[in-house]
Amino acid sequence: MKTIEDLDVSGKRVFVRADLNVPLSGTTITDDGRIRAAVPTITKLVAAGAKVIVASHLGRPKGAPDPQFSLAPVATRLGELLGQDVAFATDTVGDSAQAAVSALAAGGVVLLENLRFNAGETAKDDAERGAFADELAALADAYVGDGFGAVHRKHASVYDLPARLPHAAGDLIATELGVLKKLTEDVSRPYAVVLGGSKVSDKLGVIDHLLGKADRILIGGGMMFTFLKAQGHEVGGSLLQEDQIPAVTEYLERAKKLGVEFVLPVDVVATGGFPDLKNPVATSPATVSAEAIPGDLMGLDIGPESRKLFASKLADAATVFWNGPMGVFEHPDYAEGTRAVAQALIDSPAFTVVGGGDSAAAVRILGFDEAAFGHISTGGGASLEYLEGKTLPGLAALED
Ligand code: 3PG
Repeated sequence: MKTIEDLDVSGKRVFVRADLNVPLSGTTITDDGRIRAAVPTITKLVAAGAKVIVASHLGRPKGAPDPQFSLAPVATRLGELLGQDVAFATDTVGDSAQAAVSALAAGGVVLLENLRFNAGETAKDDAERGAFADELAALADAYVGDGFGAVHRKHASVYDLPARLPHAAGDLIATELGVLKKLTEDVSRPYAVVLGGSKVSDKLGVIDHLLGKADRILIGGGMMFTFLKAQGHEVGGSLLQEDQIPAVTEYLERAKKLGVEFVLPVDVVATGGFPDLKNPVATSPATVSAEAIPGDLMGLDIGPESRKLFASKLADAATVFWNGPMGVFEHPDYAEGTRAVAQALIDSPAFTVVGGGDSAAAVRILGFDEAAFGHISTGGGASLEYLEGKTLPGLAALED
């Protein structure tokens, strides 16, 4: 894979595919981690005298402009972080983008509007994606792939565009790959994996793959209830994916045969219903046994004994990968499980990696010092798919 140093960028129009898909509340960015992660590559290109065209998706608009997914607030924040003006094009390949790119001086930066405002970006049809990639290619002389969080997407700007221009990987992708290699090749043991988040179906592939690799797998978050149910426990009104019970049962059996330790919560923080996260008022949480959640309660976090148990399983690990919050951390009554796991990673002597969107945002929103972790990845789905051993389109496109 080539790096920026292998490209001739001075005075050239360089298209940087970043992942600036940040959480927004209205037009306020609630976690700018991904924008900060994009800065080193852009700064390097600016210093080398490139005309830098930054592009990204934000959210999942339906292939047409939708103001709630505009990247305009991101342009402002990117400018603040870079310490220079960032022009903003109000379209992707139209008049505004073309004018903004033409006006770029060496060392200048423009951010294009959300790539997913164009249906060609995410099209399943190769020709439709290719046609959009042709239009993007006409804007630039070279391509730098640096949107690690999106490399698992076979999208026009991620997969088709690099084939049309001289291309290289940016510094963020290089860093992320270096870390992921430490989780897949010559792993220091014991290797513990903590998985959370709401849906067990999102994590099946990675669990399947990690059963042959990890020594311990700790399960929290909404997905824990499908595991508890598979073990024959009552989960009350908690989130449950009934259709996943057979797969989960098979994993638990296979883990036993392979000597992989599955660690499930022993207690749960529960309440009568899902809280309002937009207007979080105090609820009345109860701590109940994970083996018998009353029918009228819904579990929303791991309980205090589970936090101690999880911390003990991480204390002597040599490598830890964590993806997915332990509970509804956005509400203060259900944030303690996620907080405890973050603290356990910090306290552990292990090489620790926080993988992805929600868990990375949780760490920052709960006020932890990012530097206390080995690495905080910018890719949730991307790092999981990498750990599943899949070929990622955005990385394959940067090879050669
Ligand atoms: C992410 O948030 O994981 C990436 O930005 C990819 O977003 P997507 O899941 O909408 O493709």
